[in-house]
Formats: sequence, C-alpha cells, structure tokens
Amino acid sequence: MLTGRQGGEAAGLEAQSALLPVYAQFPVRPARGEGSWIIDVEGHRWLDAYGGHAVASTGHCHPHVVRAIAEQASQLIFYSTVLPHPNRELLASRIAALMPEGLDRSFFCNSGAEANENALGLARKRTGRELVVSVTGGWHGRTVATLAVTDGAKYEAGARRAGMPLSQKVPFNDVDALDRAIDDSVAALIVEPVQGMSGARDCSHPFLQAARAACTRHGVALIFDEIQCGVGRLGAFSAAGFYGVTPDAITMAKGLASGFPIAAVTVGDFLAEGVTIGDLGSTFGGGPLACAAALATLDVIEQEDLTGNAARVGQQLRDGALSLGVPSVQGHGLLLGLRLGRPAQPVQQALFERRILTGTASDPEVLRLLPPLSLSRDEAGLLLAGLAEVLA
Ligand SMILES: Cc1ncc(COP(=O)(O)O)c(C=O)c1O
Repeated sequence: MLTGRQGGEAAGLEAQSALLPVYAQFPVRPARGEGSWIIDVEGHRWLDAYGGHAVASTGHCHPHVVRAIAEQASQLIFYSTVLPHPNRELLASRIAALMPEGLDRSFFCNSGAEANENALGLARKRTGRELVVSVTGGWHGRTVATLAVTDGAKYEAGARRAGMPLSQKVPFNDVDALDRAIDDSVAALIVEPVQGMSGARDCSHPFLQAARAACTRHGVALIFDEIQCGVGRLGAFSAAGFYGVTPDAITMAKGLASGFPIAAVTVGDFLAEGVTIGDLGSTFGGGPLACAAALATLDVIEQEDLTGNAARVGQQLRDGALSLGVPSVQGHGLLLGLRLGRPAQPVQQALFERRILTGTASDPEVLRLLPPLSLSRDEAGLLLAGLAEVLA
C-alpha cells in the first residue's frame, strides 16, 4: 500500500520511497477514524477489528479525548520533567487507583519497549543480578534488551544485535520448568499474561501463580508486560487484576492514551525501594499533552464501562466464532485468537475484501481480534457476519 499524502500517485510514491521498507501494510489508505471505523480516502468505511494494533482503546477520535488533547495543546504542549505538571501527578494517582493494591508508583515514557527496558533496568538495579527469565512465545519490543527477552527466530534475522547474555526462556505454561529456572541468580521474570503476538495465547492461572510464588521465594522481580493485554482489554483494567496475581511491575503502552504515544511502568514497594533521582529518565516521558490524552482515555474507559463492554462483546465474539465452526478461541475479553485449523492469512485477505481489518499472529493458523474496547454488539455482529461468509 502507498503511504503518501492525498494528492496524487507521484506524491505517494515519493513519500514511500523515503521510508525504510520495514512494514507489511494493509490495503487501505486511511483518511480519518470514527469509533470502530476507518474511513479511507475514497470515503469507504472499514470495520476495524485490529484497532491500530490494540491502540484505539476508546475507538478512533473519541470526542472527549480529542477535546482534551486540543485543550491541553492550547495551554502547554510540552515541558520536560524538570517542571512538575498536574497532569502527570494526576495520571499517576489515577493509575494507582486502578491497579492491584500495592502497585502505586509510575514512571512514564513513550513506547512499550522503553517501558519494558526500564522495568528490566529497575529489576537489575534492585537485585544486583543480571539474568532475566522470559517465556517462549513472549514478545517484548525491539530495543536490544527487549529483543533479548523476546522469543522467535524471525527476530534473530532482523536488526537484532547478538551478545546480550540476558535471557533464559521457559516453555509456555510449564510450571516445573519455571520452578527450575527461577533461582537466586535471576533479576526478573518477564511475562505477557496473554501473549499478543503469539495469537492471544493466555497464560494459565496456575502458571502465573507459580511465577508469583517462585519470584517471591527467590527475591526476583515479576514483571507483567501488559502492553497489549492491559488497559481494560481483558475485561478488567489490568491483566494482573483479571488473573488476581500481583506482580512487582506492570508495563503499559498502546491503549493508554487512545493512540497518543505514552507508556508507563507501575511498580510496588519491592522495585520502588531505593529509586532515586536520575535512575530513570526520558525527555518526552509524561509530557502534559500525553498525560492529558491518557487522563481522558481513563475517563472514557470508566464512564462508558469499556472494561465491562470488552468482557461482554468479547464473549459474543468468542461464542459467535465457535458457533461458526472455528475449532477453538484463545485469549480473553477483546484480545482473542481464533484458532482456525487452516491458514489465517487468506481469511484475513478475504475479510479485507469485505472492508474488515483483523490481525494475524506468529501462529499461522490464528486470526487475531484486537478491536477498540468500545466495539458495539452490532459491530461485533457485522464482524461475525463477514467471518461467516469467508469461512463458508
Ligand atoms: C506485549 C508487547 N510488549 C511490547 C511491545 C512493544 O511496544 P512498542 O512497539 O510500543 O515499543 C509490544 C508491541 O507490539 C507488545 O505487543
């Protein structure tokens, strides 16, 4: 797909030619977004069950979020953290109130990878240890340290740099292997409670409970990467709350400000202890505009009960897919992996032809659904109707 400005092929080609060709792209040129819909440059409406990669939590261009961004932009777009700002203070306390008890101090940065990188850094500082344990199928970002804890040969072949002796991987949901891997030499265990890139593969409750117990036993920091599965997506504000397992750190990004870049690392006493000025930092992290967008996003999630909606509409999609003959559905809420029992990519393509956007996964048989948390029952019905046609 061409990524150029409106106004002619030439401009489009020119714009594309100046980009490094690192992204596969969907066949749609967006002009604007509205709730669960993308409107293309020709005015066609596309149902968005991909959500800009789980980012459009409140839907595209929710009026409350747009207004908050515009108002803050007219007051002060940016000043660095060298000045305190009420938006930053307020956002940290709103997040603390939504998290499991004890997770009550946040650091703000700009992307998921950066949040994970900072969480790993805090864990290594606190424990004085180097090694990080992660889980097969986990995906944690594209910085050097986060790639080292990410699973998958595909990423070895990319711009990954060798020589980060950081990570040991335990098999997904294998409690015995986890118990063997966690010992007094480990700084952190990083886990996606529901693995996004792997196709919404959900960790078992016993696995996360065993992770908590082993980390507590050995003084290891347990980090939940909730960058894709957090901020209401599972039907509770945090994945930790959904599972009833409290880690030492939760990282969030994607949906936190409805698409305005922001990320957070939220920690409890274990990792907050001893943190001092200069330990972490980011020029843009927690800027007034990003925090205004995040505060407005939290308002909408609360006022419109989007976590409840994610649970209800997620159940509708799960039941609907199973009744269409999809062999199994993994994930929770509105992070679902439809295990089709056949290649998912042709199904995704056929849905594109019906102007429906969905995702695939590293598992070639999984079609991933990560729509806005505001997806309505009617919109879910349209998605299922499209799926029924394609699967028939
Ligand atoms: C679970 C998870 N962790 C980390 C990341 C990295 O986030 P970012 O691309 O904002 O750096 C992603 C991105 O897809 C993700 O899904």
